[in-house]
Amino acid sequence: MSAESRRIYEKPVLLRHQAGLLNKFGKLPGLRLMEDLDGVPLKELAAQFGSPLYLLSESTLRRKVQQFRRAFESRYPRVRLGWSYKTNYLSAVCRIMHQEGSWAEVVSGHEFRLARDLGVPAARIIYNGPHKDDASLREAIRGGTRIHLDHLEEIPRLEALVREAGLPEGQSRLPVALRINMQLDANHWDRFGFNLESGRAHEAARRLSESAELELAGLHTHIGTYVDNVDNYRRAAGRLVELAVWVRRFTGARIRWWDMGGGFATRNTLHWAYQSGEVTCPSLQKYAEAICPVLATLPLESGEELPELFFETGRALVDESMHLLLSVVSERRLNDGSRALVVDGGVNLLSSTAWYRYDILPVQNPGTQILEDTTLLGNLCMQIDVLRKGVPLPSLRPGDLLVVRHIGAYNLSQSTQFIHSRPAVVLVDAQGGRHLVREAETPAYWRELDRLPDHLQDTGPRG
Ligand SMILES: Cc1ncc(COP(=O)(O)O)c(C=O)c1O
Repeated sequence: MSAESRRIYEKPVLLRHQAGLLNKFGKLPGLRLMEDLDGVPLKELAAQFGSPLYLLSESTLRRKVQQFRRAFESRYPRVRLGWSYKTNYLSAVCRIMHQEGSWAEVVSGHEFRLARDLGVPAARIIYNGPHKDDASLREAIRGGTRIHLDHLEEIPRLEALVREAGLPEGQSRLPVALRINMQLDANHWDRFGFNLESGRAHEAARRLSESAELELAGLHTHIGTYVDNVDNYRRAAGRLVELAVWVRRFTGARIRWWDMGGGFATRNTLHWAYQSGEVTCPSLQKYAEAICPVLATLPLESGEELPELFFETGRALVDESMHLLLSVVSERRLNDGSRALVVDGGVNLLSSTAWYRYDILPVQNPGTQILEDTTLLGNLCMQIDVLRKGVPLPSLRPGDLLVVRHIGAYNLSQSTQFIHSRPAVVLVDAQGGRHLVREAETPAYWRELDRLPDHLQDTGPRG
């Protein structure tokens, strides 16, 4: 028998179609679709801009920032938001954030440059991070950026740069903040800043009080990410108040700003969570209620104002405003008989899929209500390229569209070119206008920085 005529044996499998479990109201979850973004049909966007495609909703982003500001500004007098650039530094996202009144929060020379190029004044930048380069620090010093110190070695280095770069007119010392880390629960982020419990934070405050160039004026903490226990923020705020009191008493320095970092949870569901993020995610009001009244207990002298209060919230502001549109490439059965769909984007476009059980919905109704738990496989030719397991989906055909929802934080900034290039990003504005805000990458763009040395110029013998 020839190899062609021999057919591969496929083990028959009996599959129970899972129409979904009854919820507590005795109803089936049913088929959910996402057909449009702010009124613009997703089918049209895919036809116009291709697939895969990142989508950005301008209204959702603006609404989130406005909700944030209302929650905090109604509870504390001088609240400032510093947009955490690394969460998503698409120019359109940063620009919307700045139009909504946010400063920039950057953690590298590259991000500092980006903020300056987007027109953010140096004095409206918060500069965090464990590795800041000299060129950006010089510009930050002269421009009045809020520089937050991460480790002891930064103190003499910054002092030397201040002597060299000179301070803005009228300033005798550069006001800086200390990043503080503290033990709040088992998940202690201890690799950034000065530890509170060990006394490192106090040591650094004393060291700054002896500095001729620097002055301690701010306290910063970023206690983690996706922190859905608001009590941790309450306790962190309390510890910053205690530290500010200690600093005043033992060094004479007055804290003029504090920064509670980012870290608020989103409504996305973590893989290991029992309940949906829709249920467990605290409201912005809950966070504000935990933090603001505690910070307001700082004892003040007459005529003194409460310190400015900064936040560097990332994921909680941007997650819901972006989605990833994908097309089905093929359908297959895995060895255990379960269904899998291969789609035209991989984990290189969706790094946070390692954390989140993303909500993934079909765009069009395939004409059936029968859902089956489906594994979504990416297009990377790698066994580990799994976007999600157990997505309840109807039967879909090649070319059908799917949306991975609420992916605005970290996915785009951490995306890589790998096997396939990165897709375009389209912004839908409040009037339903469509704008290409990042072009899809081309093969020429991939190779733009490659160089072939002389001895590799020759294409060499072939065959
Ligand atoms: C210093 C700092 N600020 C802000 C953020 C933003 O955090 P999130 O996206 O959890 O709000 C991060 C992220 O880890 C960070 O390291």
